[in-house]
Amino acid sequence: MREYLLVLDEGTTSTRAMLFTAEGRCVASEASALTQHYSRPGWVEHDAAEIWRRSLNVTAAMVAQAGGADRIAAIGIANQRETVVFWDKATGEPLAPAIVWQDRRTAAECRQLREHGHEPLVQARSGLILDPYFSASKIGWALRHWPQLAEAGNRLAIGTVESWLVWKLTGGLHITDASNASRTALMNTAPGGGWDDDLAALFDVPLSALPEITDCAGRFGTTSAFGGAIPITGLAGDQQAATIGQSCLKPGETKATFGTGAFILSVTGTRACTSGHRLLSTIAWQVGGMRTYALEGSVFVAGSLIQWLRDSLSLIRDAAETDALARSVPDSAGVYLVPALSGLGAPWWEPDARAAISGLSFASNKAHVVRAALEAMAHQAHDLKTAFAADGQDWRRLRIDGGMVANDWMAQDLADMLALEVERPHFAETTALGAAMLAGVGIGLFSSLEEAAAMRGATTAFRPSLDASTRAARLSGWADAVRRVTGA
Ligand code: G3P
Repeated sequence: MREYLLVLDEGTTSTRAMLFTAEGRCVASEASALTQHYSRPGWVEHDAAEIWRRSLNVTAAMVAQAGGADRIAAIGIANQRETVVFWDKATGEPLAPAIVWQDRRTAAECRQLREHGHEPLVQARSGLILDPYFSASKIGWALRHWPQLAEAGNRLAIGTVESWLVWKLTGGLHITDASNASRTALMNTAPGGGWDDDLAALFDVPLSALPEITDCAGRFGTTSAFGGAIPITGLAGDQQAATIGQSCLKPGETKATFGTGAFILSVTGTRACTSGHRLLSTIAWQVGGMRTYALEGSVFVAGSLIQWLRDSLSLIRDAAETDALARSVPDSAGVYLVPALSGLGAPWWEPDARAAISGLSFASNKAHVVRAALEAMAHQAHDLKTAFAADGQDWRRLRIDGGMVANDWMAQDLADMLALEVERPHFAETTALGAAMLAGVGIGLFSSLEEAAAMRGATTAFRPSLDASTRAARLSGWADAVRRVTGA
């Protein structure tokens, strides 16, 4: 019997595979860490061959746990978005490093394009803004600097990570789903829109090398990489998958995932909302040819800040220590940490900004710095809430997930600083759950995402309890600290 949905969650720092039952129970999982290549300041690359190898291994482990390929109903894939892979259609091998979403190498080009007045076109067509974050400028840069790409001629294939994995799994199917395609800055995201000639010309991208854009749920192809044929029926960018996994399906429902970065998406329904406040309009999912949109605030540094405190500053040995350290002091004693380690994302979009710790004195200690790092999460979320509200899309409640929110202190701080109820599911892997829901819809286990939402389990609520004056003082201290970093 084909009783399991197998999910491949290919994130920035690790590749994971999980097995779900149709009731939403996760029965097994396997993870494998991915090597990060920081070849120059501001550059971040992955080896696409390593992504494939690790994905293959963790998926094979899940197939074995399930008892063979014929026990798997379908595969769903969620992936780090915007990261671009270049490969040879003839050999199926990468032609160059994958340029990761965090990579800032095209900051100058993007600034120039903005100065030449191209941002309104980019925003009107793609819903995005001009920033090195998105795939388009990275692809243009790669074609200008890596001659082997042009030399490959019509053998060149370009795609985001789900596209690469589907190619490898199926042995040559070249597709991307609409949620991932909407992050390239090359797509007209309006209903019925596809790859956009004007955007392709602006970034010098050959559309012929790009995949076909599909729904997020459907029978896309099958893989025989694990013995018997398994259909691939769910595809989505990881943040869109988490939105689905949090059951944010109706307009106004909002989630925040605190993973490597923090990504807050609020569903706007079948109409895209054009932001006047530097947020992104993006495709949340496309099912049955119908697009549902979300407004997104993307923060580049979240869990990676805690990793940096651990690995580069040796302030902590383990991320789990941060909860007790934050509680060990009554406040941050005026210390603020603005985590612009790879520039600042929404709503500032300052690729050249750099991080700062301010307000230090001899009375400051490790606990204050760690607390300031955790407080930065709620402060950044508050900046985004303000921008969402200004766009007429204020949050009524926030559903949180991602590795960081296991930290109770941080979850409560979010509720306090946002002055909002914050809801955390007991099962934190909402990205994988969303991909399982899509795969279940794609294979016909569920008739809709609403029906698939029964897979989501119980939640815990955190309610605001901080007094107004302490909250106001923290917010104004944070605003000063950000001003020092942005120079605004
Ligand atoms: O847009 C980048 C995002 O998809 C990365 O997600 O889970 O690797 O932090 P994650």
